[in-house]
Amino acid sequence: MRHLISPLDFSVEETNDILSLAHDIYTNPSDYSDLCRGKKIATLFYEPSTRTRLSFEAAMMNMGGNALGFSSAKDSSVSKGETVADTIRIVSSYADICAMRHPKEGAPYVASRYSRIPIINAGDGGHNHPTQTFADIFTIKELKGQLADMTIGFCGDLKFGRTVHSLINELVRYTGFHFVLISPDELKLPDYVKNEVLERNHCTYTETRSLEEALPDLDILYMTRVQQERFFNEADYIRLRDTYILDEGKLAKAKKDLLILHPLPRVNEIAPEVDDDPRAQYFTQAKLAVYVRQAIILKLLGMR
Ligand code: CP
Repeated sequence: MRHLISPLDFSVEETNDILSLAHDIYTNPSDYSDLCRGKKIATLFYEPSTRTRLSFEAAMMNMGGNALGFSSAKDSSVSKGETVADTIRIVSSYADICAMRHPKEGAPYVASRYSRIPIINAGDGGHNHPTQTFADIFTIKELKGQLADMTIGFCGDLKFGRTVHSLINELVRYTGFHFVLISPDELKLPDYVKNEVLERNHCTYTETRSLEEALPDLDILYMTRVQQERFFNEADYIRLRDTYILDEGKLAKAKKDLLILHPLPRVNEIAPEVDDDPRAQYFTQAKLAVYVRQAIILKLLGMR
């Protein structure tokens, strides 16, 4: 039995196979509409979510299956003190596969140790969000036509942003990416990601505080929200939350084929006027996530 806890749980070859499968599901959805009849996904979300939980449920339903679960810890027996281990022992009898989001790093891994069904990490604290990474690279591949040889800028909260950490871990396995890390000093990419991921893989990267200076060189801009829920101090959050606001004025100097991504939800970091710019593809990114999650479900269920 396989689990998806980290983006590295699948080899590059397997990852490319999943992207190809997702492309086929995207272009021929009716071929997959009955494959999971009788199957159930449990979505155990101990932290809020819109896209991840609903797109996993939609993914299973698109293939004829069903979904069950909870959307907050307070709506489950977790609020009475039940452990992750006991919860997943029970849920293993009710569903065929489980997507779990948890505020504590490592909780989905703990679940995988006690589970009799595949566990998908749907986001654990500031650590990893592997299926968002799959959505991100699928979007890049579909819209750029390649997954190599580009300059990608990560902007905003690079310290707490688990989507950033996951995506960097994945992209270093592909060739020719140059990384531009755009953040205030307080929200810089953690040293362990720089040292153990970027440098260990001999990747080139630059760090800057200035989005305006970085923009003209970028092929992809990955904007992120300042993660209020991970701050210990409200005053620091308020001071940093509006450091970067992408608007049409700043985009005037960007490449005409820049790809603007954001894992969403956004707060203030992308002005609504940008939504109509053809370079803004974050809503497409959220839509494509459903197809790649269908592919991941099929792969983990051993059906592909
Ligand atoms: N991108 C993402 O994880 O969104 P949600 O928090 O809404 O699931």
